[in-house]
Amino acid sequence: MLNIKRIGLLLLVAGLALSACQTAAPTEEAAPAEQAAPAEAVEAPAEEAMTACEAKPDMTYETMTIGFAQVGAESGWRDGETKSIRDTATELGVNLLFSDAQQKQENQIKAIRTFIAAGVDAIGIAPVVTTGWETVFQEAKDACIPILLVDRGVDASVPEDLYVTFIGSDFILEGKNAAIELAQLIPDGGDIIELEGTTGAGPAIDRKKGFEDEIAASYPNINIVASQTGDFTLAGGKEVTAALIKKYPDIVAVYAHNDEMALGAIQALEEAGMKPGTDVKVVSIDGEKAIFQAMVEGKANVTVECSPLLGPQFFEAALTTVQGGTVDRWIKSNEGIFRQDTAADDISSRVY
Ligand code: AHR
Repeated sequence: MLNIKRIGLLLLVAGLALSACQTAAPTEEAAPAEQAAPAEAVEAPAEEAMTACEAKPDMTYETMTIGFAQVGAESGWRDGETKSIRDTATELGVNLLFSDAQQKQENQIKAIRTFIAAGVDAIGIAPVVTTGWETVFQEAKDACIPILLVDRGVDASVPEDLYVTFIGSDFILEGKNAAIELAQLIPDGGDIIELEGTTGAGPAIDRKKGFEDEIAASYPNINIVASQTGDFTLAGGKEVTAALIKKYPDIVAVYAHNDEMALGAIQALEEAGMKPGTDVKVVSIDGEKAIFQAMVEGKANVTVECSPLLGPQFFEAALTTVQGGTVDRWIKSNEGIFRQDTAADDISSRVY
């Protein structure tokens, strides 16, 4: 039976769904730049952040209410993350208030304020950009509601005591690994282009840094002739690639900050009569099923995995924090690198 608190939450969240977007949440639906993803897995200020507030040692998954402020639905990767959050909440019996911000920071801020007004026990957020969170995170802290960063982090302008943890990947390492993989595909070097993610987003900043630092340090024969944002979307990747190959028809590779933009790049290359995967190597990040299909077809070469399946780690960390326990400052994902030669075998095990 629904208790009074849950009924109140339902009413509040109905308001949130209207203000944030039109993507209805079925039931109660309502990111680090050099990211300040904490450098090491040290014991958290979770305890510190909660000391002025009352811990809830008797809290369980079934009695906990969580607000989750999602970035949007810009990629298959993002849909995979949303599914992981929703499915895990259902499995554990957590009462989830979910908001889709449609890639707008203002919508995420609104969602957090609605969650605070609803009196949730903790808030998860994948911050669309790394800056501009101090005020609203402070409001959550003042209300004794811990904030957990999921998949995307914030930069050093956001004081570390305003969030408990960052759960997600090492984006700099992903960029570095992409550079190493790409260099192996073009031993003679040459001109390449880079498709960046959303400007100001943690993974875009760090994947650029990790990649470009590695190229500069170890591969002087590789020349990044252009680097532009495709906003982490297929359409953006396609548009930018189509424009850049007119200017640089001799490129030998494309590095995309996510698979979705790589898929757009593949379309643009094919439409221009070029052969992605052979004449122009394609390396990207995420590990979406669709890029495995492109590898099977010989149109993409490598994907550096970035797992969106963060639901279990997120809810576990949220419960521990709410109960008054401590969690690591950085809860890292386990990830691999997948290449064209094994894609046909790997594809069946991909879940996003
Ligand atoms: O924050 C993670 C990134 O966001 C993923 O790599 C990308 O596909 C998504 O849009």
